[in-house]
Amino acid sequence: MSIQPVGQSFGRSVVGQKSVWIGTNWKMNKGPAEAVAAARALESFRPPPGVRSFVIPPFTSLRDVCSVLEDSALMVGAQNMHWKDSGAWTGEVSAPMIAECGASLVEIGHSERRQHFGETDWTVNLKVLAALRHGLRPLICIGDTLDEFEFGVSPETLARQTKIALNGVAQKDLGQVLIAYEPVWAIGSAGRPAEAAFVSEIHTRLRAVVREIAGESGVRIPLLYGGSVSQANIRDYVALPDVDGVFVGRAAWEPADFMKLVNSVSGLVSRKAAA
Ligand code: PGA
Repeated sequence: MSIQPVGQSFGRSVVGQKSVWIGTNWKMNKGPAEAVAAARALESFRPPPGVRSFVIPPFTSLRDVCSVLEDSALMVGAQNMHWKDSGAWTGEVSAPMIAECGASLVEIGHSERRQHFGETDWTVNLKVLAALRHGLRPLICIGDTLDEFEFGVSPETLARQTKIALNGVAQKDLGQVLIAYEPVWAIGSAGRPAEAAFVSEIHTRLRAVVREIAGESGVRIPLLYGGSVSQANIRDYVALPDVDGVFVGRAAWEPADFMKLVNSVSGLVSRKAAA
């Protein structure tokens, strides 16, 4: 089974051939003026063939960024959502609201949300199901803490997070899902990038988990790595067989840096496709 893109169409990707995904989450940075300026800088950017790129602005900039990037090659996503469509949920934003802004993707379960805002595996699952109901591609973030890593139980944590996140997802919807492995200990300025060999081992195990859930189509669920990805290490990660892209924070916030990162994997895409 091949995965069809949802939302905007990406003519450069051959259907059935795996793409390389590179996206950035702006986190709580860039108010509307700065976000629009960044979007304008990215508007005419064309990623290399086979690369799909996305940016994830904060909610207050979402609609404006979607408008600027409407006819561009970039997808736009939101950083979080509530699982209900509407109601008395002060401070929350729903999937239909995100879709109405023009976004096609939504990040769910980032470790900063799990760590600081009480996000659980259960709420991640509710959000994944709601996103799919509204035609949004869920980008599910999973990650092990430093303790889990040091106790050697990262694979168990990641399997649990993945299985719960995908619980109840219809077979037909599995092709819309993206998963980002982001070790909590690798994220942010205090983090250290994971060793490529470790990422490779984890992604091979994750591939087995998604295949257990999704059958053969699990082969095509994009598995991204995130956590201190930079110009210095992006190719090491993207070259790994079960790594289908990277999810970047700080190193991609500046549009020029983002474009440079995306362009830097061009030679790898065809090599991966041929593998
Ligand atoms: P970082 O953030 O690249 O700044 O480490 C990654 C993330 O939080 O997704």
